[in-house]
Amino acid sequence: MRLITIDGPVAVGKSSVGLLLAETLGFQFFDTGVIYRTFTWKALNAGLSPFDTEELINLACTSAFEFVPSPGARLVVLIDGQDVSSLVSTPEVEQSVALIAKIPEVRERMVCEQRRMATGLQLVMAGRDIGTIVLPWADLKVFLQASVTERANRRYTELVERGTKVPYESVLAELQERDHNDITRAVSPLKAADDAVIINTDGLSLEEVVDTILALQRERECSH
Ligand code: C5P
Repeated sequence: MRLITIDGPVAVGKSSVGLLLAETLGFQFFDTGVIYRTFTWKALNAGLSPFDTEELINLACTSAFEFVPSPGARLVVLIDGQDVSSLVSTPEVEQSVALIAKIPEVRERMVCEQRRMATGLQLVMAGRDIGTIVLPWADLKVFLQASVTERANRRYTELVERGTKVPYESVLAELQERDHNDITRAVSPLKAADDAVIINTDGLSLEEVVDTILALQRERECSH
């Protein structure tokens, strides 16, 4: 087994689950949200708005992406040789990323980079369209689900722990808006692949979700 995909909506735990799964298996982990965020950061920094479609497409085509190992299993994206990962969770990036990720030509470029990265690695890749579009040939596809209130609770707790003060209602509203954008966009909408295993994580701990996926992985290994 070489490639495992984890898709699902915002704040469902894809990153925590994917990272622990990768560490347990000795695989690399890549969270594809980071490539969209990194590109959004560069676009905003260059003075573009999410509606400057032509300029955004040009920028996507002329930007250089590299993927480098960091301590642990996580791969880090460099854009034009620069690691901007500490700058990609700002409210500005947060507000624009789903709009920029809607542009088909921008997605095409990102998908191409994600496939290039996956070549030759043992990898857990997390995102929205990994099992359906990016790596449809993956060995195991998982789609995580959780109720919107559970996801808002988790995101809210995470923000509070990081010292960020935001009202719960605005966390919930932002999550619902992002869900709407991701589900209704014309290109690569968020949906489970036909052959994905759907796991509802409501009430499950991180370890329980990872154990469920490890059991699926062992099952697949044995049947080959
Ligand atoms: O997962 P994360 O919240 O970091 O993703 C940020 C945004 O990037 C998502 O809201 C979505 O619009 C976009 N995205 C995407 N396809 C992916 C991963 C992320 O469109 N595979």
